[in-house]
Amino acid sequence: MGIEYRNYFSLEDYTALRESVGWAPLCPEQVQNGLDNAALLTGCYDGDRLIGCTRLLWDGGVIAYLGDVMVSPGYQDHGIGHTLVRRNIDFLNSQLKEGWKIKLVLFTLPGLESFYTELGFSQRPNDRAGAGMDLWLG
Ligand SMILES: CC(C)(COP(=O)(O)OP(=O)(O)OC[C@H]1O[C@@H](n2cnc3c(N)ncnc32)[C@H](O)[C@@H]1OP(=O)(O)O)[C@@H](O)C(=O)NCCC(=O)NCCS
Repeated sequence: MGIEYRNYFSLEDYTALRESVGWAPLCPEQVQNGLDNAALLTGCYDGDRLIGCTRLLWDGGVIAYLGDVMVSPGYQDHGIGHTLVRRNIDFLNSQLKEGWKIKLVLFTLPGLESFYTELGFSQRPNDRAGAGMDLWLG
């Protein structure tokens, strides 16, 4: 594999990758907004083909959100997913100033918790924190 990481990916590449992991299609306008306004896009390419990605939301404050963690089925189990997530952690660490702290949060699909706990994430709910919650609109 000629694997390369870039801080960019297009709407078309994202849409194809999303389809490859079996996630439902989204409104292109909303996806483009999400790409334009992310704090960090990380794409993993094999040549010109996007085969993995993450999208980080962060406003410079205490909370950051990691979404769209995907690796194309033919490329899974080669450490690409972990590398993608680690690059986001490294980016946020590089942004820390004296006295700052950042909490990186995400939602995991059932059964994937160990993928994230291996990277240092805490599983919720726990003694200090309740379960994550969400509300769909529209
Ligand atoms: C989850 C996903 C991103 C993992 O990417 P990946 O490149 O295959 O992961 P890695 O090769 O870095 O795997 C690292 C570890 O996670 C484990 N892992 C990977 N996929 C897993 C799964 N579906 N369930 C449980 N553990 C998994 C691997 O066994 C490996 O463990 P090890 O370090 O003890 O050997 C990828 O399988 C994927 O895109 N799945 C479909 C979309 C998805 O579910 N995204 C996550 C949303 S929360």
